[in-house]
Amino acid sequence: MQTPTISEDTPIIDHDFTPEIEMGLLSQSPSISPKFLYDPLGSHLFTAITLLPEYYPTNTEKSIFTQYQHQIADAVGVGGNLIDLGAGNCQKAESFFNSLKPSSYLAIDFSEEFLQEAVNKLQGKYPHINMQCIGMDFSRQLLIPRSIATSNRTFFYPGSSIGNFLNSEALELLRQIKSQANEGGILIGVDLMKEDAVLMAAYDDPLKVTAAFNLNILRSINSLLGSNFRVDQFRHKVQINHVQNRVELYLEALEDLIVTWPGNSREFKKGDLIHTENSHKYTIESIKQLLKSAGFDKTQIWTDPKDYFAVIYAC
Ligand code: TRP
Repeated sequence: MQTPTISEDTPIIDHDFTPEIEMGLLSQSPSISPKFLYDPLGSHLFTAITLLPEYYPTNTEKSIFTQYQHQIADAVGVGGNLIDLGAGNCQKAESFFNSLKPSSYLAIDFSEEFLQEAVNKLQGKYPHINMQCIGMDFSRQLLIPRSIATSNRTFFYPGSSIGNFLNSEALELLRQIKSQANEGGILIGVDLMKEDAVLMAAYDDPLKVTAAFNLNILRSINSLLGSNFRVDQFRHKVQINHVQNRVELYLEALEDLIVTWPGNSREFKKGDLIHTENSHKYTIESIKQLLKSAGFDKTQIWTDPKDYFAVIYAC
């Protein structure tokens, strides 16, 4: 059996996130970057979210992948180099291994520990696929290791993660992908605009798994920054922004409080919000336009019967 390699020519995450976290916390509208949601516990809580019946994106995307597996494989082509952006537990990519028969698989994720474990398991099941994994914050810069062939590249970007970027950032990332895909393409999952009740249930589920996931970011920050956030002083809050077409996720202070960390502190008044994530929802037209602006001229689109979600191959 091959052992998946950790790429040596690409920086592993050893970054000091203190300045970025401090800047967010001290800003007039405080925020914490959503990448800090995915510490080891957060990654497991997110997996739990994807199993909730209310969290339609994962199930719906999966049903589209299953129903159109052959059409998708025809569009993408078999035997290429699959590059998984935000691989997580690698299950989505694995569901394509039989139809796409990739010759190599590069898994990239911010949460390196979690990823390494997943890729190790996967390599055992698919010894003939050349696997590598990298811990990378590709929202800063996308760096594909030199060991990955430049031809026949397919970037796999499911889960509507693109929706977590502002439009300008999403455009920049898609441009970077386009320039590194060469004559290949991108297989992307995007969440479509829909009625508020469906969105609210998906982002504020009655079991409170999503609340736990969002609140856990405070613990993740405590361990990175040495701060003393208390999870019980905040609550998970969801707002739908119809102007920007997005779901906005916040943590709301339940009382007046002060958070301190080495060298600094921040006061929160009852009702103050910390922004943790935006989840933009698209229309077929708006995502096509975004892809086109990034240089992807050709698109093939598959959706579910309710038009909740779209899977797109663009090149
Ligand atoms: N990227 C996912 C999404 O936008 C992540 C997510 C789901 C999320 N539920 C959340 C992020 C709640 C923060 C809070 O759908």
